[in-house]
Amino acid sequence: MSTRHFLTLLDLTSDELRTLVKRASELKAIRNRGEIYEPLKNQVMAMIFEKSSTRTRVSFEAGMAQFGGHAMFLSPRDTQLGRGEPISDSAKVISSMVDVVMIRTFSHALVEEFSANSSVPVINALTDEYHPCQLLADMQTYFEHRGDIQGKTATWIGDGNNMCHSYINAARQFDFKLNIACPEGFDPDPALVEANKERVFITRSPEEAVTGSDLIVTDVWASMGQEEEQKEREAKFAGFQVSPELMDKANKDAIFMHCLPAHRGEEVSEDMLDDPRSVVYDEAENRLHAQKALLEFLLAK
Ligand code: CP
Ligand code: NVA
Repeated sequence: MSTRHFLTLLDLTSDELRTLVKRASELKAIRNRGEIYEPLKNQVMAMIFEKSSTRTRVSFEAGMAQFGGHAMFLSPRDTQLGRGEPISDSAKVISSMVDVVMIRTFSHALVEEFSANSSVPVINALTDEYHPCQLLADMQTYFEHRGDIQGKTATWIGDGNNMCHSYINAARQFDFKLNIACPEGFDPDPALVEANKERVFITRSPEEAVTGSDLIVTDVWASMGQEEEQKEREAKFAGFQVSPELMDKANKDAIFMHCLPAHRGEEVSEDMLDDPRSVVYDEAENRLHAQKALLEFLLAK
């Protein structure tokens, strides 16, 4: 069989994604029972980070170690990647020595080019366009707290960014409705919206968006690489803050997620992350379990 990659949620079928999310909860239980499970003994993951990370690095590195394998951190600062070695050469060479490659970078095209030249699975650990690993954890978290998300309504508040794009793909793959409330000029990719128009609805009103919603999600107003736009974005996104008061307008059993890191006082009120409806720390922990399920799916014999 040809090498499978995970660049967006569309690289797996709906059935594969559902199985993977269930498996993530099983792997979590195995770890919580203290059982040793090492399906990736002697396997090595290369982790290429061109942007900062806490959760992604810790979860992949810990996950590989718990599976009996090894993870290797590579930064452009001290590899030839930062000195302009072609992506195709880097992909051929790195993939000849390891079993799986994880990349966090700016351009989605770079990850596509790397995967096209890689002999082993490539995982997108965030590009400017998509963040599919986070969605595995988010879906696992919703299933664990509220059961199946099929037929439910989720609401995205804020920037039409990489996370928002991955939510659109998740809505398609897990069959839920997605309301998106973003300020004018910050809509998600129109082609992606158009391709999913039967389930994706854009509004300028956070209040309208959360009404009838089961899951509320937001993210920072300025993503990595947009630091210079921070001040301008703060002005344009005022009014798009998720707070307990906004949550009160959603369904009674609605929960709140944020991929983190969060900026309290900007996209979330000071008290939102500690509200009983917030599941953000479970969501963060689930990065570990969901990505272990992904690694097992891509690599285990
Ligand atoms: N949510 C997320 O990807 O966090 P990090 O940037 O810390 O990896
Ligand atoms: N949209 C954010 C997500 C961080 C995990 C960013 O790209 O910086």
